[in-house]
Order: sequence, then C-alpha cells, then structure tokens
Amino acid sequence: MASLATRLETLRQQALQELNTASDEPALARWRNTYLGRNGALAGHMRSFSQLAAEDRPAAGQAANALKRALETAFEDREGRIAALALDARFEAQRIDVTLPARRLHTGALHPTTQMLRRVVSIFRDLGFRETEGPEVELDWYNFEALNIPPDHPARDMWDTFYVNPPAVLLRTHTSPVQVRMMEKTQPPVRVVVPGRCYRYEAQDASHEWMFHQVEGLAVDEGLTMADLKGVLVAFAQRIFWPDTQCRFRCDYFPFVEPGMELAVQCPICRGSGCRVCKQSGWIELLGAGMVHPKVLRKVGYDPEKVSGFAFGMGLERIAMVANTIDDIRLFHGNDLRFLQQFA
Ligand code: DAH
Repeated sequence: MASLATRLETLRQQALQELNTASDEPALARWRNTYLGRNGALAGHMRSFSQLAAEDRPAAGQAANALKRALETAFEDREGRIAALALDARFEAQRIDVTLPARRLHTGALHPTTQMLRRVVSIFRDLGFRETEGPEVELDWYNFEALNIPPDHPARDMWDTFYVNPPAVLLRTHTSPVQVRMMEKTQPPVRVVVPGRCYRYEAQDASHEWMFHQVEGLAVDEGLTMADLKGVLVAFAQRIFWPDTQCRFRCDYFPFVEPGMELAVQCPICRGSGCRVCKQSGWIELLGAGMVHPKVLRKVGYDPEKVSGFAFGMGLERIAMVANTIDDIRLFHGNDLRFLQQFA
C-alpha cells in the first residue's frame, strides 16, 4: 500500500485538478462535498488514521490538516474567481451602448385651440378689454330671454340646444349670455372679452361640432357707435392675420343687436385671389357683431338713452382653421397626435 504521504498527495492533485474544472456554484458545492465534506475523501483518510501506530498519528494529522487548509484556500480562490466571472458576464450582458442615439422625449404642447384663444384674448387685452368667463351650464334666461330671444321666438332655431333640465337649464349655445351676466353686476363703462366652450345639438361634419369655443366681446359706455365697433374689429383682424387685411361688413340678424352685422376678412391664405379655404370667394366670414339692442340694455337696468354698446362673437376653431388651413373641425378633438404635434 502506498505511503500516507503519497496518498494525500494523490488526493491533493486530483482535488485541485477537479476544482479547476468547476465553473459554477453547483459544481463548487459538489466539489466541496466530495473532498471536504463530512463523508468526503479527506474525512475518509482521517478516519483511517485510527489504524496507524500511535506514534505516527500526529504527523499524519498534521499532513491531513495542511492538506485541508490548502484545499480550503484553493476552494475560496476558485469561488472568488467564479463570482468575478459571473459578475463580468452580467456586466457584459447588461452593457449599455452609449454611442446609440438617445431616445426622444415627447414634450407636451398647448392645444391649437388654446394657442388661438390666448392670441385672440391678448389682442383684445391690448385694445383695452378685460378677460372674464361665465358658466357653461346656463339658464335659459341668460342664453336666450335676456338676449331678446323669447320662448317660441323663431330665432331659437339658430341655436340647437342641449337641455340639462328643460326648459330652464341648458348648455350654453354661445358665449353671449356672459354679456348679460357682466352687465348685471357692473356699471358702465364695460369692456370685456369672454372665451369659453359652447355646445350645440348638431350633427357633426367637417364644419360643425357639438362642442366648440367662442370668444365674445362687449363694450358699453356713453356715446359708443358703430365706428368704435368697426375700429376695434379691423384692428383685431389686422393683428390676427396681416397688417393690411381688408375687412367687409355686411348686414346680418341677431336678436340681441341692432343693427347686426357680419364681418368677413379678405382670405388670409390666398389674400383675396381665391382658394380652397375661401371657396374661391376671396372672403372668409369671421364673426357676428352689432350694437347692443336697447331691450337687452334695459333688461339689465341700463338706460339706452344714456349708454350704448357694441358686441361681437367669434368661433375660435374657425379662426384657427383659417389661420392654419385646417379643413375639418373634427380634427381638434380627435386626439390624433399626428395632428396635434404640428402645433407643438
Ligand atoms: N352669439 C352669436 C352666435 O353664436 C354670435 C354673435 C353675433 C355674438 C352677434 C355677438 C353679436 O355678440 O353681437 O351665433
């Protein structure tokens, strides 16, 4: 039988050789069990020392302990190596290629209607008008009656109405009711612009939506005339479109103004020569306006002998459509990012 020293040396070589092939944690654990475990190879040798002569045992024990420490050290080294290799592999797998182009951040932007609303309001602010607002759920009184549109008046056909609680409560069909609310709580002079949502019970098509925005204007003071109204509207048209935009005023009927009129501007796209936007006419109808009807003034307690006023109302989407050559009003609330991002 080989000497103890030879046997231990053989064990050492075999163990180290095998350790070098262990490449992951399970293999390491198996190796440790095989050589260093309670029933492992080294323990087997040590148990056999009981058969040695008493004087040989200390040397054998020392040799076995030395081997045990050597194997433990080798094990720890290998374990460290494997952990480092695993970490390297993980880093490699998770490596970030910093030369790749960055992912684009999507920034939000104001809705085209909001952008136009702010432009319109700021022009009127420069002209001396204060911004105010009114309720979207409105009383029939403000939306119609106080505006000289009694129940059963045929002019009600001009506004198809959503009723919240018929017949008294409705969704306002225009921003004109805020004129009445303003005049009720202030004494002349009054000069306000009122942006806001309006609702109409209408079939939708390229130029009609059941919800849209208007901007209303109202001025009341002593001695205001049609000339003031025209001056303000021309100034507005020339600021929102071109400084030399031509304006055309024509008679129109609205129960709450007398006289009433419609303002058209020279088409800002073709500048009057005729195009798709103006349907070859050269003109774009922009808004309704007029001198506040004496009956409306009286309803809020103003004296039409002392003060006079003018008012106007325009559709915001319509102006945004003209300014940006948009041919379908439904695009505004269709939530199509391809449309909206053009205004970012
Ligand atoms: N409220 C009207 C509409 O929605 C527009 C309008 C016309 C407003 C004449 C006015 C005005 O203030 O004077 O059709």
